[in-house]
Amino acid sequence: MKKYWIITYGCQMNHSDSERIASVLEKAKYKSAPNIEGADLIVVNMCSIRQSAVDRVHGLIPKFKKLKLKNNKLEIILTGCILKKDKRKFSEKFDLILDIKDLVKGYFKIKPKYQSKFSASIPIMTGCNNFCSYCVVPYVRDREISRPVKDILNEIRSLIKHDYKEIWLLGQNVNSYKSGNTNFAKLLKMVNNIPGNFWIRFTSPHPKDFSNELIEIITIGEKITPYLNLPAQSGDDEILKKMNRNYTVKKYKNLVKKIRKKIPDIVLSTDIIVGFPGETKKQFENTAKLFKEIKFDMAYISCYSIRPETSALELKDSVSSSEKKKREEKLNNILKKTALENNKKYIGKILEVLVEKEKQGFLIGKSLHYKTVKFKGKKNLIGKFIKVKIIKAEPWRLKGKIKKTL
Ligand code: SAH
Ligand code: SF4
Ligand code: F3S
Repeated sequence: MKKYWIITYGCQMNHSDSERIASVLEKAKYKSAPNIEGADLIVVNMCSIRQSAVDRVHGLIPKFKKLKLKNNKLEIILTGCILKKDKRKFSEKFDLILDIKDLVKGYFKIKPKYQSKFSASIPIMTGCNNFCSYCVVPYVRDREISRPVKDILNEIRSLIKHDYKEIWLLGQNVNSYKSGNTNFAKLLKMVNNIPGNFWIRFTSPHPKDFSNELIEIITIGEKITPYLNLPAQSGDDEILKKMNRNYTVKKYKNLVKKIRKKIPDIVLSTDIIVGFPGETKKQFENTAKLFKEIKFDMAYISCYSIRPETSALELKDSVSSSEKKKREEKLNNILKKTALENNKKYIGKILEVLVEKEKQGFLIGKSLHYKTVKFKGKKNLIGKFIKVKIIKAEPWRLKGKIKKTL
């Protein structure tokens, strides 16, 4: 029996793809290896969003050489999001390079080998038509393709039958989902109407496609959780324009205002790039200002990384890496304060939590609002909803005590 080992880098989409790759391999009679040394086939599912992600793959190559010396039958495949230039570079180092763009054509039909028994990620669309000037996704994932409604609903129904508690709908631009007459808002409504006790989450929506209809559905859909990752990327209009984001800061702020009016308890996170080509101190300060105003709960802050094939490649990467780091730290310091302030309002409250894992004698889970919650409890609660009374707030985590199991 041949054995496989999969290494996954990148976003939730790549992790979800790996679940489908595993399933294909198991159909071909491969078994999962206990460790990398025991594998006859290694699949690297890579990410190219930043150069550091690509460098991780380069970093694996010496290890692969050693493994091949020990097992001359070992085959190593590279797949995932790969830029043309890197395909050429990696072609000698791998036995085969498979383009995820080709794989995805059939992969939506594959029943994945889910990693978790209670939380599942469902890709509903892949690809991107937006061409933000810094981003590789349109090149490595090609244009948008949406999965048929029926396939999505069937996959979710089957998961709910197996008692799954959390359903993530995934897409690089999840809210530009469109299949026939069904847009993302309508799809969410249909998923919400599936009977069962489960939570619906989704990522990532593009601010420019965030319709009133979508806000309405999130407001009324009782299973749709009050958590949103709404990537802003910058708080400066000129930079947003250079990024080709198709919205202004004012538009972004108005959208947040509208969402908060309808869903007052919404928890907001964002994605930000600091040190985009030509970003002046003043322009960066506008992003800092946006952070102070919105008071995000969480943010994924990246230092700009120059990417082949993208249009920003033409622009001079003018901000030094130490200055980028400084800007990142500055935003993190604001975030730490706003997140702590936001978290304090949960003290004394009883929150519903989905228990995810045990760590050093504590249970860790996520609340309805996607807040990490730490508390004492028995391992058999993993994968269950429980009620936790919050006793302490930290910027990235709440601490509590179990009230009762549901
Ligand atoms: N579709 C989502 C983002 C997908 S990429 C959106 O439109 O917002 C995930 C994140 O990686 C982006 O939000 C961005 O913050 C970051 N990112 C993308 N390209 C980058 C680059 N060249 N350098 C640094 N960060 C980048
Ligand atoms: Fe990249 Fe922009 Fe598409 Fe998001 S919307 S995946 S940042 S090109
Ligand atoms: Fe995701 Fe990286 Fe590809 S962020 S879509 S795995 S380039």
